[in-house]
Amino acid sequence: MNKILLVCLGNICRSPTAEAVFRKVVEDAGQGDKFEIDSAGTGGFHVGESPDSRSQAAALARGVDMSAIRARCVSDSDFEHYDLILAMDQNNLRDLKRRCPESQHYKIKLFLEYATGYVEREVPDPYYGGKEGFSHVLDLVENASHGLLASFTNESSN
Ligand code: 4NP
Repeated sequence: MNKILLVCLGNICRSPTAEAVFRKVVEDAGQGDKFEIDSAGTGGFHVGESPDSRSQAAALARGVDMSAIRARCVSDSDFEHYDLILAMDQNNLRDLKRRCPESQHYKIKLFLEYATGYVEREVPDPYYGGKEGFSHVLDLVENASHGLLASFTNESSN
């Protein structure tokens, strides 16, 4: 089982989008039983809330339903439990590394390390912007999700 945690600040826009999209990519590839996928926020302002309605609309437009997700905070046990902890931006990466025991730092990376064809390495926070920002999050997250799944497929075929 590959255990993957997607992380942003509030866990209501980017990381729940990444959780739902990556889950769909994995399930569409018939690999659902090989992955445990979750998301969390480095901040706790929105704990218990559903994903932002603008994120839900942008995801639904691409056939991804994220309505069942509820925001939660990263916990200390996440660093032990997950194999890979993927941050949406550099601030999330820095906050995760600050909290994470040194021995588990190798698990923490930027999600967009798995994206191809983009120079961007951060998923921009869409919260204070317009609709295009949410759609751009979907573009980046879909791309990186395929790259992430491919990284496991390539690994097991070697
Ligand atoms: P997220 O977006 O980190 O992608 O979930 C945000 C959501 C809420 C806030 C900031 C970012 N906020 O400041 O409330």
